Amino acid sequence: MPGITDPKINDYLMKLSLEDDPLVLEMERLARENDFPIVDRLVGRLLYLLTKLKAPRLVVELGSGYGYSAYWFAKAIGTGKVILTDNEEDNIAYAETIFGKAGLSEKASFHAGDAVGIASGYRDIDLLFIDIDKHQYPGAIKSLLPNLAENALVIADNTLWYGRVTGKNRDRDTLGIKKFNKFMFGNADFFSTLLPLRDGVLIAYKIR
Ligand SMILES: C[S@@+](CC[C@H](N)C(=O)[O-])C[C@H]1O[C@@H](n2cnc3c(N)ncnc32)[C@H](O)[C@@H]1O
Repeated sequence: MPGITDPKINDYLMKLSLEDDPLVLEMERLARENDFPIVDRLVGRLLYLLTKLKAPRLVVELGSGYGYSAYWFAKAIGTGKVILTDNEEDNIAYAETIFGKAGLSEKASFHAGDAVGIASGYRDIDLLFIDIDKHQYPGAIKSLLPNLAENALVIADNTLWYGRVTGKNRDRDTLGIKKFNKFMFGNADFFSTLLPLRDGVLIAYKIR
């Protein structure tokens, strides 16, 4: 699917964002070969940066795929832990292998099954990352509000949904993203912004 940024700008940013970690490169190659929707390198770097700034003890990911986004969190996390969730067992198994190769296994916990159900078993989540099926975003944030720590960060990928948020699309994923964005920007508990990077990344700070 076409991105929302000018391809020339995207190429320019990619050229600046050189990468030599062989496991990052392996996962990016796998995504290209299988047309699997990872956050990709520009958003991966943003996740890394926000994790360094926030220094979370607990990161919970809803929709880890085979571990690409979680890998950026884990590389940045210091003494904290990243909880990976995905409903595909093979994805989680691949993530475990990658984390093992990188020596990051002790920074992570791997769970196959429903992401929101698994996440609801965690309290005081410092950083919640949402990247499951798009129609599930509003329900996910509403059920996990009580599980967020004070001053938590909520980060959600695909929040411009290939630009469809601006049109009249009424499919459930577009409606889900629009409802989610409206909820996050309209909720006095959060201060939210949305970066037009790749497919849009919403970042919200829980102010109370
Ligand atoms: C966009 S991909 C995740 C990519 C990953 N965050 C990355 O950037 O490397 C979405 C993943 O969420 C999983 N998924 C979708 N809905 C889910 C749910 N309710 N519970 C668990 N996993 C879910 C899909 O199987 C898929 O692997």
